[in-house]
Amino acid sequence: NTTKLEFPQGFLWGGATAANQFEGGYNEAGKGLSTADVITAGTHTTSRRITPILEEGVNYPSHEAIDFFHHYQEDIRLFAEMGFKVFRMSIAWSRIFPNGDDAEPNEQGLQFYDRVFAELKKYNIEPLVTISHYEAPFHLTQKYNGWSDRRVVDFYVRYCEVLFNRYKDVVKYWLTFNEINILTLSFGAFMAGAMMPEGNGELAHATVKDEQVLYQALHHQFIASAKAVKLGHEINKDFKIGCMIAYMCSYPLTCHPDDILLAQQKDNLSNFLCSDVQVRGAYPGFAKRYFRDHNIQIKMQEEDEDILKEGCVDFYTFSYYSSTCVSADPNQEKVGGNLSMGLKNPHLKASAWDWQIDPQGLRWSLNNIYNRYEIPLMVVENGLGAVDTVEEDGSIHDDYRIDYLKQHIEQMKEAIADGVDLIGYTPWGCIDLVSAGTGEMKKRYGFIYVDKDNEGKGTLARSRKKSFYWYKNVIETNGEQL
Ligand code: BG6
Repeated sequence: NTTKLEFPQGFLWGGATAANQFEGGYNEAGKGLSTADVITAGTHTTSRRITPILEEGVNYPSHEAIDFFHHYQEDIRLFAEMGFKVFRMSIAWSRIFPNGDDAEPNEQGLQFYDRVFAELKKYNIEPLVTISHYEAPFHLTQKYNGWSDRRVVDFYVRYCEVLFNRYKDVVKYWLTFNEINILTLSFGAFMAGAMMPEGNGELAHATVKDEQVLYQALHHQFIASAKAVKLGHEINKDFKIGCMIAYMCSYPLTCHPDDILLAQQKDNLSNFLCSDVQVRGAYPGFAKRYFRDHNIQIKMQEEDEDILKEGCVDFYTFSYYSSTCVSADPNQEKVGGNLSMGLKNPHLKASAWDWQIDPQGLRWSLNNIYNRYEIPLMVVENGLGAVDTVEEDGSIHDDYRIDYLKQHIEQMKEAIADGVDLIGYTPWGCIDLVSAGTGEMKKRYGFIYVDKDNEGKGTLARSRKKSFYWYKNVIETNGEQL
């Protein structure tokens, strides 16, 4: 009488990417400079740098990335070969509005995405489009200091309007902002908020210390997101528009009530604040308390409460890579990892980049999120960043990646059996691409290998890893054979 573990029919299997990490063509066909285009490459131990003026002879990984701009047909053919039902990609805002505040969109930029969507359609692959994935036109940073300025809301909504009208018959699934909850955390101010941070330009420490500014910028993104949702539904009532959260799963290190409470507070503030606003349409009580206790006064316009209420998302999506622990004791050892800085869990192993591997944490997170919102969920990022070795015959035996994904997929099955309405899965970097945290190529997530190294050298040739054939079979059997 045990429960059968299986995926529903029509489950959306696919993969995920972001324009600034894989598209390249950074100054082609009228594209303007984006915030991502002024960030240099780094490594696991050296931080990336933000250079408002481009430096000669320096590697800026977004400029060429893996050149999807010129390889999109080949890449989409490979996704189709794996059997993708859905492909998560983002649109480079500065390809459509080079400065962000331009009067007219850039037609050549729009035509590029016309071609990409037509290619996906050829293979019946449903696009899932992130409207802003860790980038904005750099001009908006220079002139307005990014999202700290309310005028950016209108520029964003105008950009959405152009996308929704242009692609209303070819794109159904949209996400307003990638990992919106990162904006107030370390390096989020620039990556997600397009605001110039304090410090010496090192991305790893690039914060805006004034929480007033950070939360005000976040409020502007909430308003922008809600307006986009409302507008999208007016343009096409069948659009499904979602939020996207970097879900940072944190366990209490001990059963001490101080640790239990702290873990709950972290879950609330780091994860649920944003999705409560985007899913339920209002700031939760714990956020209001945090603002009061920290002397943060969000400047709201009269209509803001209604805007938030009218712009609730249709589904909830998130990234999940690892988990950490929290403790009220300040002397506990921290683990690395760019987003989920927390404490070491003695029961878990970590990746070469110190991200703790915790498949069961995904089941826990899925249940935790679903219990709160009861709307469809999608895991739109998950995966293992690892160094791959190319054998003499060109083959790549990435069993470690297969193991990681297999274990996470097993836990998704469990969560579905627990009653979670999970509708899709797009593992991150389905084709090798630039790491957001370190700017490296060496930290690979893909099923498809791309010949390019950390210095930016290589032929850009694509090849299939062992995981390519494995994932193809996973999709073919709807997750039965792992
Ligand atoms: C997510 C981002 O946080 O993590 C992606 O949405 C990013 O853009 C991914 O690439 C993995 O992080 P990293 O640093 O390994 O590239």
